[in-house]
Amino acid sequence: DEQELIRNFCIIAHIDHGKSTLADRFIEKSQIISSREFQSQLLDSMDIERERGITIKSQAVTIPFTSKDGKTYKLNLVDTPGHVDFSYEVSRAIASCEGALLLVDATQGVEAQTLSNMYMAVEQDLEIIPVVNKMDLPSADIGRIREQVDHDLGLDPDLIFPVSAKFGTGVDELLEGIIEWIPSPKGTLDKPLKANIFDSHYDPYKGVIMHVRVFDGELKLGEDIKFYSTGKVNKVEELGYFRITRDSKKSLKAGEVGYIIAGIKDISEVRVGDTITTLKNPCEEPLDGFRDVKPVVFSSIYPVDADQYEDLQAAIDKLRLNDASLVYEKDSSAALGLGFRCGFLGLLHLEVIQERLEREFGLNIVLTSPSVRYRITPKSGEVYFLDNPTEFPDPGVIERAEEPYINAVIITPSEYLGNIMNLCTAKRGIQTELEYLDEKRVEIKYEMPLAEILFDFYDRLKSVSRGYASFDYEENDFKETELVKLDILLNGDVVDALSQLVFKGSAYDKARNVCKRLKGEISRHQFKIPIQGAIGSSIIARETIPALRKDVTSKCYGGDISRKKKLLEKQKEGKKRMKMVGRVELPQNAFLSVLRTD
Ligand code: GTP
Repeated sequence: DEQELIRNFCIIAHIDHGKSTLADRFIEKSQIISSREFQSQLLDSMDIERERGITIKSQAVTIPFTSKDGKTYKLNLVDTPGHVDFSYEVSRAIASCEGALLLVDATQGVEAQTLSNMYMAVEQDLEIIPVVNKMDLPSADIGRIREQVDHDLGLDPDLIFPVSAKFGTGVDELLEGIIEWIPSPKGTLDKPLKANIFDSHYDPYKGVIMHVRVFDGELKLGEDIKFYSTGKVNKVEELGYFRITRDSKKSLKAGEVGYIIAGIKDISEVRVGDTITTLKNPCEEPLDGFRDVKPVVFSSIYPVDADQYEDLQAAIDKLRLNDASLVYEKDSSAALGLGFRCGFLGLLHLEVIQERLEREFGLNIVLTSPSVRYRITPKSGEVYFLDNPTEFPDPGVIERAEEPYINAVIITPSEYLGNIMNLCTAKRGIQTELEYLDEKRVEIKYEMPLAEILFDFYDRLKSVSRGYASFDYEENDFKETELVKLDILLNGDVVDALSQLVFKGSAYDKARNVCKRLKGEISRHQFKIPIQGAIGSSIIARETIPALRKDVTSKCYGGDISRKKKLLEKQKEGKKRMKMVGRVELPQNAFLSVLRTD
């Protein structure tokens, strides 16, 4: 059985524990590309990923490996992202594997996302191999990690593979370990085709490229495939394995991971999580679906230049195909025109989408204040959800407003406990648990409003714990809150794109901060500009930008004409990134930057 020579596995870990580096070593060892072509963090193919050094999209690759037993195996490696915003990607990747390497940094130990990713793998019945990375570092403490693997993770410490992904030490042993410990897939070749789309991306020449795991049956080139959810039928034009580039084959069989191209140009036809079967011999039931995507942060995206609206639509459509967790609908604003209301998995996800729209699609965009989704019970009529400040009703008609809460889990060295408790209390957190994991580390749990952790919570946590505390959360229920709409007025007019839904108790501080920050972002105009924060008709904060007194060029004394030109040129350059709001020029980044910190 060919499946005996296949191992499908993923690497899961807390952020920065070295997944991408380990994946690089595997690829390097397999020599599927020459060392000249080798670039570090190969699987992180997007620019943003390289620059930030984080993995955002899961990527698949097939690696040949000849074991000590003389047989050559096909290892299908799925690299997964570690950041909490992207756990959706992790769950989809995990569902297409039989095993997982759980990577733990030897100098950091088990952290919050080590645990949450492991639970996800356990839920899918994956075989888990504990791997301790960064063994080359002098502060690596294998004894301590062995205890954590045993006590915190409940895994067998004797199964640990110590490695240095950076220098490749222990990687050969680990590859043998994968062959030995991770089960081969157990599909049935002569059953009808059952394949799972776990990801997809768009190629300008080939159209939609689906990333699939075949569970049962065999799919051949030229066959007609049927999508379970839509019933649509398409002919397979190309299929094969991922080896950094596409390696086309004649068929994909039970147990294999690869790609399918079926002449699909309309990106809305492919749904990640869907089951593919053949038209001729369809399977009876689809595979279990993936977890539902639940966006938690909402914001509207507008083009700076109204002419780019259609380009923006096309770009978002394309991103959506590659990123099933992005949801959106049309939106419009008095200040900004036509745009899209989008849902994101978190603020990092939002920033990634923003950057991709700007860089990959060359768009100039504006994002409005990110918001969570509130539950509103009106005095009469049905309960509904509200995330868009422009849809905030007359407060008089609201019987009850509720906001989403999360259960936060924080693991920290005990010396930072006091700082962290202060931070959580300031964020309206309610402590639910405090447990010493060992003499030095504490696990604390809080119930907190989601809105409070959206912005700078993670950064603040890192700074009050000198980077040592780790954090993870899951959704809890809705709890009653006092909700108000905070408006920002520029030169007397409400700028709808700057309105926010906020907890009443924080409204004054928020209003003051936004006004102050806006003042810093807007340059002087020919006239005086009042900036005001208001709830309904009452003004709760105010700043003023004084009028410009002199011409910008007047400071170039002596009438140096070329300097004067340069200055005017520069001013023009600056204007391109500006959005006119009434008579006021607002820099494009003002929308997000003034709103992000509280
Ligand atoms: P995300 O993709 O962001 O989740 O991170 P990751 O887990 O993929 O981590 P990555 O491979 O980007 O490594 C994080 C940092 O640790 C990088 O600076 C690596 O160079 C470093 N690193 C990874 N493995 C080792 C190792 O074995 N030894 C040492 N000294 N550094 C390592």
